[in-house]
Amino acid sequence: MCGIVGYIGREESAPFLLEGLEKLEYRGYDSAGVAVYGPDGLRVAKAKGRLKVLAEKIDGGRAIPGTVGIGHTRWATHGAPSDVNSHPQTSAGGKFAVVHNGIIENYLYLKNHLIRRGVEFVSETDTEVVAQLLEYYYDGNVMEAIRKVVEKVEGSYALGILCEDFPDRLFAVRKDSPLIVGLGRGENYIASDIPAILSKTRDICRLKDNEIAVLTRSNVGFFDIDGYFLEKPVEYIEWDVESAEKGGYEHFMMKEICEQPKAVHDTISPRIRDGRIVLDDIALTKEDLERFRKIFVVACGTAYYVGVVAKYAIESMVGIPVEADVASEFRYRSPVIGPDTLVLIISQSGETADTLAALREAKHAGCRVLSIVNVVGSSIANESDDVLYTWAGPEISVASTKAYSTQLALVYLLAIHFAELLGKKSPEECAALLAAVEKLPEQIESLLAHKENIQFFASRYFNAGDIYFIGRNIDYAASLEASLKLKEISYIHSEAYAAGELKHGPISLIEEGTLVVALATHTGLFDKMMSNIREVKARGAVVLGITTEDKLEALTAQADMVFPIPSTETCFLPSLSIIPMQLFAYYVASMKGCDIDKPRNLAKSVTVE
Ligand code: AGP
Repeated sequence: MCGIVGYIGREESAPFLLEGLEKLEYRGYDSAGVAVYGPDGLRVAKAKGRLKVLAEKIDGGRAIPGTVGIGHTRWATHGAPSDVNSHPQTSAGGKFAVVHNGIIENYLYLKNHLIRRGVEFVSETDTEVVAQLLEYYYDGNVMEAIRKVVEKVEGSYALGILCEDFPDRLFAVRKDSPLIVGLGRGENYIASDIPAILSKTRDICRLKDNEIAVLTRSNVGFFDIDGYFLEKPVEYIEWDVESAEKGGYEHFMMKEICEQPKAVHDTISPRIRDGRIVLDDIALTKEDLERFRKIFVVACGTAYYVGVVAKYAIESMVGIPVEADVASEFRYRSPVIGPDTLVLIISQSGETADTLAALREAKHAGCRVLSIVNVVGSSIANESDDVLYTWAGPEISVASTKAYSTQLALVYLLAIHFAELLGKKSPEECAALLAAVEKLPEQIESLLAHKENIQFFASRYFNAGDIYFIGRNIDYAASLEASLKLKEISYIHSEAYAAGELKHGPISLIEEGTLVVALATHTGLFDKMMSNIREVKARGAVVLGITTEDKLEALTAQADMVFPIPSTETCFLPSLSIIPMQLFAYYVASMKGCDIDKPRNLAKSVTVE
């Protein structure tokens, strides 16, 4: 999953492929490769590491001549970064070379199916299954082979395909992963993202799901999956390069906020089969779980706040004591841990120094370490006993949004999985919980559709001096992340408090006009929250309330503005309540003219203590 570029024309393709992939470097990747049809047939060159490693390997493209080619920058999802796992992936007989963005959810089933029929695989990737399957079905008709492959594979894919028997053709097909076709003069292009081809053309066609493009030097044919010809509108791209990199969004943060429905879907869908959770990635057994007397969740920043949600979710669903701790404290306080302890490490980058040190402390004490990580092959992933990957894709903005949402989703799946293994929940209860998790992407989408309401509220309060976030139970957990989002990108002082704590001191901070954001989505504690809102209102606070739709009227009677969220299982509410909070932070920072994607003093991955 990451960047795709393809070229068919009269110029040497490799130099253009490298140039196009360079334009996609901002998306983050761990390896790159090209396949070119030239005088010696289909040739592939690929390398782990930065694009310049590949460029040096092929002498800037001169070492791999040919005027038809495909290129790829890989963000590993299946199989650690390595030369052999890089794309393009080829079929055993060398007939096909494929570059792929997305996740083939049933790749293990298809791979075993082909292995049983004598096909030899060389990589750990899901993508190689596509190349091998194309050759398996190929009988001289590439379109028919593509159609059969599309019928078999499940998941998301944008594919660039070269076939050795058709040197004057470049094939492309997509489902749930963007792929565009660029129209040139005597040459044509494919790309996963507009920046890659903007130097060549502004005329593009966007492939829709299950549409196939067949590119020659002189034209492009579009077909549906049944082979019928399609007329496609040509779109003229007005964007400059910088806005093209952000997909038309002003900042990566908004792009990533809006990618959350897809990121959560991509993270949970491959792990749900026939209504049940299938965690092939981890080897924790019922016996292991019965051995654990305690679970520690250890992380930093946003990932730690996922850990606070995890405490509520796992304790309420599984009944094992859970302690959430910041890694920089955990590693220096001689925690009471041992072989009877499961340590859940959470990290987007997989390289955070404090979190990695905490992991090593846990391993040294004999704990079982399970990690939730977004970067395949990262240090934390490599040193854990088990790893669950969030398939959120590269998160560029320093402020974490889609990583938070996908980490939460995996925590819910783990809690349900553990509850089922230990018999704490009946199969019916687990099925209902799982259905609620599967519904989250569409519920997040519905919240994003109303972002202008939050923008309006932010426009009235972006000059606030102090902003307080209050909540109880799962809402308190969400308020911690809400407060961090605001302070790290808007530089406004903000604090999150357990609402019940206000009377023990913090309420002295409330004065006329103080902005308080009250998260009141937990139905069972709604009345308590209403009391806390009355407390702060009585002292002059302005209150933005977040609650479920059924409580909208009641909260509107008390708060100055209310943003409703759909209902879901109590433990899953932070996945929804955080959306307006992310948007609030974004709009406040935007109106203050802050550098939203690169806030002052912050780094995307804190690899130092
Ligand atoms: C969150 O918006 C921040 N960028 C920061 O708190 C981050 O969550 C923290 O540094 C942990 O990073 P990690 O998830 O890569 O370990």
